[in-house]
Amino acid sequence: MTTALSDPEAIRARFAEVMSDRPGKLQKHVKRVERGALRLAAIHELDRDICAAAAAGHDLFRHCKDAELIALSRHYRVPISEDELAAPIVLHGPLAAAYARETMDVEHEEILTSIAYHTTAHPDYSLEALAVFLADKVDPRKMQRDPGLFAVAAAAEHDLYAAAAMFLERRLTSQLNNGLPLHPLAVASRNAFLRRAV
Ligand SMILES: [Fe+2]
Ligand SMILES: [Fe+2]
Repeated sequence: MTTALSDPEAIRARFAEVMSDRPGKLQKHVKRVERGALRLAAIHELDRDICAAAAAGHDLFRHCKDAELIALSRHYRVPISEDELAAPIVLHGPLAAAYARETMDVEHEEILTSIAYHTTAHPDYSLEALAVFLADKVDPRKMQRDPGLFAVAAAAEHDLYAAAAMFLERRLTSQLNNGLPLHPLAVASRNAFLRRAV
């Protein structure tokens, strides 16, 4: 019998171990997200260990192709909606959380929730989860490709809810303009964050 992992620092170390055999580019992205999340944690006086652990584990399966994401999600009993079947990339968050829970005995709901929903966000996200979500979205490499994200990064320094609502609005607008489906959780999250923004 294994012992449940509930200490954020121990969880972060375990995630870092698993990440160490992932593609180099992905490892670098995850390190940038950890740094970004810790920066936001310092600004907003959040729990640094929770932010670091969630950032370290958020992309454990980001390197997988669609078919592998679907197969692994079925194996770890991650529910797959019609929306996710059409765009399986969304599954890499819920899959990472399910894998962490099942194979590493991670028992820390805030960290697991932060990881599971980092693509769409979640209306009940904690501020720590929002810091990780935003650090992922405004990774400096992504801002180089899409300078519109600088406004999101600037907003994140003052109000995490406003910044997350702004990010989701940009993405939902682009999906609407391109005739793409909207993920219902992204819409619900945007509405919730808009209500909470200062
Ligand atoms: Fe991701
Ligand atoms: Fe990421």
